Amino acid sequence: MIDIHNHILPNLDDGSKSTEMSLNMLKYAYEQGVTDVVNTVHFQHPTFLNIDNSLDNIQRIAKSLQSKLDEFKIPIKIHLGSEVFYYENLIKISDEPLTTLGGRKYMLIEFSPKNIPNSQKQTLYDLKMSGITPIIAHPERYKLVQENFSIVYDWINAGCLIQVDAGSLLGLMGEKAKNSSHLIIKEKCCHILASDAHNDSNRNFCIKDAYNWVKSIIGKKNSDLLVYEHPSSIINGEDLYF
Ligand SMILES: [Fe+2]
Repeated sequence: MIDIHNHILPNLDDGSKSTEMSLNMLKYAYEQGVTDVVNTVHFQHPTFLNIDNSLDNIQRIAKSLQSKLDEFKIPIKIHLGSEVFYYENLIKISDEPLTTLGGRKYMLIEFSPKNIPNSQKQTLYDLKMSGITPIIAHPERYKLVQENFSIVYDWINAGCLIQVDAGSLLGLMGEKAKNSSHLIIKEKCCHILASDAHNDSNRNFCIKDAYNWVKSIIGKKNSDLLVYEHPSSIINGEDLYF
């Protein structure tokens, strides 16, 4: 499996707190069949504005963790990206390293849980027209989606991709997120399943259990698309057609 949303690099944002924790997380990921992870550090998130997410710093931390993985014979490859907090400046920042995945073809975008600004429709459209496909991170955790599912259809109709958190499906992010994530799967509105792992305890890689649940609803072939084919196309910068 290829996990395109997680916070495994240590001491960077609200993700892993130490190299030891990162290794625990990645060992657990490997045991669940994960071969590749894209670290998605928070980018321009109002709570984490002091993060040094310069390419140099992230590459340095990733290189160090990758060598530890190699040393402990945990066969996982680390890729780099970010989870961009929504503002109207998405096109402007898209030239910055790490804000896009797959050679500037995809951008993972998160909203505040309680507020999805009206401007998002035009901004995401403009981003898509500029050649970058928006990937909406964990929509099931947004109040607006929990109250009105139609926004998920609107995003899909506008050419966005939908990424659901594994923990939401398992009920680890609360009942509302669980119900909403189940609906996204049942309505076949999910394109990518990802861990959004933050630590080695309550927010670890639980992607296999989530995958198994999804498989019981939409079957193996459709489930494999969410953890193998689609994330693979994304990190390789290939187009996805639906
Ligand atoms: Fe995240």
